[in-house]
Amino acid sequence: MNTSRLVYRSRQFWQAISTRSSRDDADLVSSILSASQIELFNLMQKNEQAHSLRVLKELRNRGDENIDLQTAALLHDVGKVRAPLGLWERVLIVIVKAFCPDCVKEWGSARTEDSLTGLGWRRTFVVAEQHPVWGADLASQCGSSPIAVSLIARHQDKLPPSHISESSGEDSLLRKLQAVDDIN
Ligand SMILES: [Fe+2]
Ligand SMILES: [Fe+2]
Repeated sequence: MNTSRLVYRSRQFWQAISTRSSRDDADLVSSILSASQIELFNLMQKNEQAHSLRVLKELRNRGDENIDLQTAALLHDVGKVRAPLGLWERVLIVIVKAFCPDCVKEWGSARTEDSLTGLGWRRTFVVAEQHPVWGADLASQCGSSPIAVSLIARHQDKLPPSHISESSGEDSLLRKLQAVDDIN
């Protein structure tokens, strides 16, 4: 992670602690998600909901209104409901990702079939690494489309640079999601 990305993440941190929801936001969410998806969205922490709304609004500002992309924008981080992170855990992830991204990958790769208890300090990194797959599973259970589910599962995957590999339809959506997720 370079310095400018770290600055973006810092801004995300301050936005996270000054979050307010509005009636307009609720209307926007209900214009995109089904009733069961809204129930899932409402399980997220307020700061995570606010982040997802910023991602969605930025995509719409750029003219991207694909329904699978908008669904993924709102639900891409929903896997974090399995193990909500505290403020300082989120700060820790940002710092370690900035200086040792491979450490996050290694520490976050522990197996978690049953529960996250017993992981100790690794729990934070397991959530950082594995919430995309958990979120895709939850989104699938409430009837999300296969493309929306796949976008959620892959939202942290590294794609090859676009000039090396031509994007398929789904990869093109994934690039758009990642571009705004990183700055919001
Ligand atoms: Fe995420
Ligand atoms: Fe995100």
